[in-house]
Amino acid sequence: MPSTRVPRRRRYLTCEPRYFDVLYAINPWMHPERRIDTGLACEQWEALVRAYRAHGHVVECVEPVPGLPDLVFSANAAFVMSGRVLGSRFHAPQRRPESEVYEMWFKSAGYDVHQPVAVCEGEGDLVPVGGFVLAGYGFRTERAAHEEVQEFFGMPTVGLRLIDPSFYHLDTALFALDDDNIAYYPGAFSPGSRAVLRRLFPEAVLGSREDALAFGLNSVSDGRHVFISPRARGLIAELTRRGYVPVPLDLSELHKSGGGIKCCTQEIRP
Ligand code: ARG
Repeated sequence: MPSTRVPRRRRYLTCEPRYFDVLYAINPWMHPERRIDTGLACEQWEALVRAYRAHGHVVECVEPVPGLPDLVFSANAAFVMSGRVLGSRFHAPQRRPESEVYEMWFKSAGYDVHQPVAVCEGEGDLVPVGGFVLAGYGFRTERAAHEEVQEFFGMPTVGLRLIDPSFYHLDTALFALDDDNIAYYPGAFSPGSRAVLRRLFPEAVLGSREDALAFGLNSVSDGRHVFISPRARGLIAELTRRGYVPVPLDLSELHKSGGGIKCCTQEIRP
């Protein structure tokens, strides 16, 4: 049966991994002693950008900065809804200088940027879907930031507690499939948060631990096409069954820093 799901054209902000490296360890995926192939990371990122453009999406790029190896993870730098930008305050001191780089990009693109007071890692922990902003906490973004998000956007936040250090950002365990539904890996959440997700999204697509470890829950969907890690085989099969069209893209070199497709993609919502 052909898929009837309808895509919506998106605007994505990314950053070439020209200076990508693993120089410190702030999550369990990062091992600074391992060799990083920056050239390969760039090729994988270019394939992602090509795929977005081939599917009709607009891709913008922040200029990479030497000495900021995690700048490629644009999802963490802000949260944009209704053309309003909430900047980021990073948990790790090594990443704090990234906020200013993205703030400058947004300002030059004509946006006002509101800076949060509490630790807030942008779309890494904030996912708008179903009339809520799903908001992760436990490792990075603080609960106080959820309140700031609710106040700034006038959208109700739903706090979800992350309990597995391998899935330290909400976007490593959950993504929005469209305006109303999500895919997630239940094992990343506390029992209460799991119950909240079941209640809000009874039709959600569930991923396994294998899918999550393959960064399959760190995907980007335009409502029809799901840009996803090719190693998340179970999830790819289930998404296909539900009428989505998976577009496999391998960001294996970026995985060495604990990030995948979604981490490298900031959505600028008009
Ligand atoms: N090395 C980065 C960090 O630990 C990876 C960030 C991945 N981004 C994401 N949205 N999950 O902060």
